[in-house]
Amino acid sequence: MSDLENTYFIPVIGWHEPVISYGNGSYVYGNDGKAYLDLNSGQFCTVLGHSDPELAKRLEQNAGRIAHTNTGMLCEEAIKAAENLHRISGELDGYSIFLSTGAEAVEFCIRYAKFLKNKQGIVCFDKGYHGLTLGAQSITYGGVYARPEVDGIYPVPVPDTFADNAVVQQAVEIFEKTLKNHCDEIAAVVMEPIVSVGGMIIPGAEYFKEIRRLCDQYDVMLIFDECQTGFARTGEWFAYQTLECLPDMIACAKAVGLGYPVSIAMMAGKYVTKEGFKMTHYSSHQNDGFAAAIINYGIECVENEKLLTAIKEKGQYFLEKLQNLCNDDGVGLCKARGCGLMLGADLYVPGLDNYRGYYAELSKRAVEKGVIIQGTNGGRTLRFLPDYRIRYEDIDFCIEVLKDIL
Ligand SMILES: Cc1ncc(COP(=O)(O)O)c(C=O)c1O
Repeated sequence: MSDLENTYFIPVIGWHEPVISYGNGSYVYGNDGKAYLDLNSGQFCTVLGHSDPELAKRLEQNAGRIAHTNTGMLCEEAIKAAENLHRISGELDGYSIFLSTGAEAVEFCIRYAKFLKNKQGIVCFDKGYHGLTLGAQSITYGGVYARPEVDGIYPVPVPDTFADNAVVQQAVEIFEKTLKNHCDEIAAVVMEPIVSVGGMIIPGAEYFKEIRRLCDQYDVMLIFDECQTGFARTGEWFAYQTLECLPDMIACAKAVGLGYPVSIAMMAGKYVTKEGFKMTHYSSHQNDGFAAAIINYGIECVENEKLLTAIKEKGQYFLEKLQNLCNDDGVGLCKARGCGLMLGADLYVPGLDNYRGYYAELSKRAVEKGVIIQGTNGGRTLRFLPDYRIRYEDIDFCIEVLKDIL
């Protein structure tokens, strides 16, 4: 075992044992020789599992052909990937740019919304997470951690997954009041269709229907941050298709890169003209061939393996198992929820306010039993975003381990 306290990384976060030697499918293998079920596909990225041999082959082929072009040129693979994304975007009639990280895709959307509307203000959820570059951080958790503080940010509450109609209506009213009072300043609304870091909260279709209506009424763009929900995670290509709520732009990352640093921003066709925009955009790795090869392979696998259906079915199976666990007295888990293979449940210990220590102990025990879990929301919420090819028996294994450690 290596000593994780003596590495040469900037210690921006604490690391846990084991050091990973390799991955295969839904499992990673530590330098302790043990297998671990990687229940969250790395950081929700390796959605076809680890070390897919055909993906490795495609990357090798692409590396032998063309890794990168200058920002003013395109390779054939990239043109094909943009066509593929346009096809799966459906009614959005989506036009794409390939970038590298989620934050970068969010920055792109914010930058173009401000340009297109010629306004600076952004509405966001008070518990949303969008990345840590300054623009993205200005709307992460309502911008409270952004330094310097950014003006023109308008946080609104997220209605809870299990909220009744009255609470949802109240959230809509606060949203409407915000647009009404500041519509001269607001360019866009940026929201996660499922608020993951903030506690795996699913505001639902009724809420977003109202948000779309009000954005139209007040001439404000609606941007969905689909960095986690996008690229098949919810059982549709994008969560806006699950919600039947058409945004104006989306940012998508994680799954679209199959474990590599690829993100995309997509803009609705109605905004795109042949003359292009007066404001240009360039980033060293935009529209690169390697990103395109990954995107094309991802779309091919999801379609050929009928993964959209599989994600819905496995998601439902996983959810039912979690719900059963919640119904077990004394287990200390409640409020199982999910959409496709994006699921969560809350830890529940009577009298406990701060779940960080409890979660840390739980996570350590899960790893000892061979399962890597992830918490969020101050350790209160467990989230489950496994790879799309996860087997039913691996879901069962996860449930058994949870039952055991809880
Ligand atoms: C919804 C959402 N948006 C944006 C980001 C930022 O992505 P990245 O870390 O790739 O910059 C994340 C990362 O977790 C995310 O979950």
